[in-house]
Amino acid sequence: MSLYHSTSPEQTRALGEAVGRLADAGDLIALTGEIGAGKTLFVGGLARGLGVDPATYVSSPTFTIMHRYGGRLPLYHIDLYRIETPEAFASLGLDEYLAGDGVAAIEWAEHGWGCLPKEMLTFRLRYTGSDTRTIEIVPEGDRYMRLVQALTRDLLV
Ligand SMILES: Nc1ncnc2c1ncn2[C@@H]1O[C@H](COP(=O)(O)OP(=O)(O)O)[C@@H](O)[C@H]1O
Ligand SMILES: [Mg+2]
Repeated sequence: MSLYHSTSPEQTRALGEAVGRLADAGDLIALTGEIGAGKTLFVGGLARGLGVDPATYVSSPTFTIMHRYGGRLPLYHIDLYRIETPEAFASLGLDEYLAGDGVAAIEWAEHGWGCLPKEMLTFRLRYTGSDTRTIEIVPEGDRYMRLVQALTRDLLV
């Protein structure tokens, strides 16, 4: 686990962008944190890092559940905020996006109710002040441990 301190929206976006540059097909990025924590902003950075057109506006897919953006790899941006039960999650049929040809980023991943793959890379965002956030980075599995090592190197240089 590592902890990242963000002192501006730009920094949170830059963290997402660095992850997007390192991401591979099939990667699963989970985001947790209250409304306004910065999950969507992070996904905007992820989109940038995946080469999605910078003019594309990334917003929470709260009502549509999933947005697809085309970049170097497709980005599947999922928001589980309104998903209230394991049955509701199962009925979405998201499997093809989770282990697919692209990168899946899931806001409110805790609403996956234990039905999500065990291996994923989680970013837990916490509000600590109007412009500051702490972001806990939790990799599960070898693939994501390596990704976090590369991410740490990229952020240091
Ligand atoms: N350090 C920071 N990191 C992320 N967002 C920040 C930060 N400081 C202020 N903000 C603001 O917090 C809001 C985060 O919104 P958003 O990304 O939509 O959150 P969420 O998707 O978690 O509900 C934005 O208005 C952003 O400008
Ligand atoms: Mg959001």
